[in-house]
Amino acid sequence: MNIQRFTDGRALSQDLARRMLAAIDRQPGLVLGLPTGRTPLPLYAALREQTPAAGTDWSAVRTFNLDEFVGLGASDRESYRAYMERELFAAVGVNPAHVGFLDGRAADPDAECGRYEEAIAAAGGIDLMILGIGANGHIGFNEPATGLHARTHRARLQPGTRAANAALFGGDISRVPEEALSMGMATILRARSVILMATGAGKAAAVDAMIRGPITTMLPASFLQLHPDVTVMVDLAASPR
Ligand code: F6R
Repeated sequence: MNIQRFTDGRALSQDLARRMLAAIDRQPGLVLGLPTGRTPLPLYAALREQTPAAGTDWSAVRTFNLDEFVGLGASDRESYRAYMERELFAAVGVNPAHVGFLDGRAADPDAECGRYEEAIAAAGGIDLMILGIGANGHIGFNEPATGLHARTHRARLQPGTRAANAALFGGDISRVPEEALSMGMATILRARSVILMATGAGKAAAVDAMIRGPITTMLPASFLQLHPDVTVMVDLAASPR
C-alpha cells in the first residue's frame, strides 16, 4: 500500500480532488465508487470549488456509491442519495442518468443488491474507488465479523457505526436505521484502483491495523492488502506509527 501523509484533512482533500479531476480529464467516462460520511465532506467541497476552475466535464462520469440505509430513498433527506445530491452531484453536474445507487426502499432488497452488481458490471466495473474507514475497520458497511460477504448485500450495522451516523439524523441514534445495503468485499476489491482516506485520531488504530496487521474478517479493511493498487491518504492524526 502506498501511504501518503498530509498535515490536515483540508490539504488531503485538495490534493485528492485535484487527482480525481485529472483522472476525469484523462478519461471522461471514468467510473467512480464513492463514500458518504464525515471524512469525504471536505473532499466534496474541494471538488465543488475546483471543478469550475479546472473546467472538468463530469457529464460522462458514472458513479456508484458504496451503500444506503435500508428504508431510505432519494426523497428522504437523511439518505445517502440525498447527501450525495447536496454535497456533490448537483454542483459538479453529474448526469442523473449516470448515478448508480442502491435503493434502500426497494421492495426486494436481495434483488436490489443483485441489480446493483449487474449495473456495476454493465458500466465496465469501477475504475477508481474512494473509501473511508470506520473506527472498527469497516469499509462500506462490511462490519467486522467471523465471515464477510463477497457481493452487495443487506448488512446489520454495529451500534458504534449507528452512533457515528447519528449526525445525519439530528443526533438521534434511535433514528439511524439498523440495516443498510452495501457493496461487498469483492465488489470493492474488483475496483481497478482504490484510494482510502482517513482523518482524525479516532481512525489511527484502524489505519495502523489495516496496514500492518494480519488480513482478518475482524478488520475488513485489512483485505485491501491483497489489492495491487491502493493508496492510503491520511492526515497526521490518523497517521500510522
Ligand atoms: C459510507 C461508508 C463508510 C464510511 C465510514 C467512515 O458510505 O462507506 O464505510 O466511510 O463509516 O465514516 P466517517 O467518514 O463518517 O468517519
